[in-house]
Amino acid sequence: MKILAVSCSPRKQGNTEIMLGEALQGAKADGAEVELYRVSGKDIQPCDGCWTCMKNGECHIKDDMQELYEKLLAADGIIFGTPIYFYAMTAQAKTVMDRTMPLGHPKRNLANKVGGVIVVGGSLGLVDAIKDLYFYFVTRRMLPANYVAAYGGAKGDVNKLEKGRKAARDLGRQMVQLVNKKFEYPPEFISPPIAYGTHTF
Ligand SMILES: Cc1cc2nc3c(=O)[nH]c(=O)nc-3n(C[C@H](O)[C@H](O)[C@H](O)COP(=O)(O)O)c2cc1C
Repeated sequence: MKILAVSCSPRKQGNTEIMLGEALQGAKADGAEVELYRVSGKDIQPCDGCWTCMKNGECHIKDDMQELYEKLLAADGIIFGTPIYFYAMTAQAKTVMDRTMPLGHPKRNLANKVGGVIVVGGSLGLVDAIKDLYFYFVTRRMLPANYVAAYGGAKGDVNKLEKGRKAARDLGRQMVQLVNKKFEYPPEFISPPIAYGTHTF
C-alpha cells in the first residue's frame, strides 16, 4: 500500500513539510510504503483549459506534472499539504488541483483513493482551503479521511505543536486503515465527475 504526500508549499522543509512528514511517519508505522513529493522547484504549468484530457485522460502539457500523474495514480492514499496564502491554498496547490482534470477519465482516475488534508497558516483562512480540498475529493470520487489544521508562521514553528504533530501521525495511520477497508465508489457515478448545479445544462 502506498501513501503519497504532496507538499504544495513553495518553501522547502517548512511547516507543511514537517506536518506531512509526521503523517507519513504514522502511515509507515502502520505498514505503508510512503513518499513525499514536493512541488517546490518543479515545473508545473497551469491548466490551459483545452479540455482535450476529457477524451483520453492525458494532458498535452509535458512538464513535471506528468511524473506526478503517475505517482497519484499509483498511490492508494494521497495527503495534500498546503500553507495558507491570502486566505486560500497556495497557487501551487491550486495548479496541481486543476491539472488533475485528466484524472477524471473512466480508465485513469483517482476514484477510491483515500484523501487527507494538512493545512498550515499563521492566522486566518485555513478552513477555506480545507473546504476546497474536500470538495475536490468529492469531484475526484475519493474517500475523505481527516484533516489537520496547524498554526505556524516561521519555518519550524509547528515543531512546537505536540498535539498537532500527533494529529498528523494519526491522520497517516487513519489513511492506512481506511485504505484497508477497500472503499469502492459505485462505478456508474465515477465519470464524468461533475456536480449538478443550476448552471449545468
Ligand atoms: C504570501 C504569503 C501569504 C500568506 N497569507 C496567509 C494567510 O492569508 N493566512 C494565514 O494564516 N497565513 C498566511 N501566510 C503564512 C503562511 O501560511 C505560514 O507562514 C505557513 O507556516 C507557511 O508554511 P510553509 O512553512 O510550509 O511554507 C502567508 C505567507 C505568505 C508567504
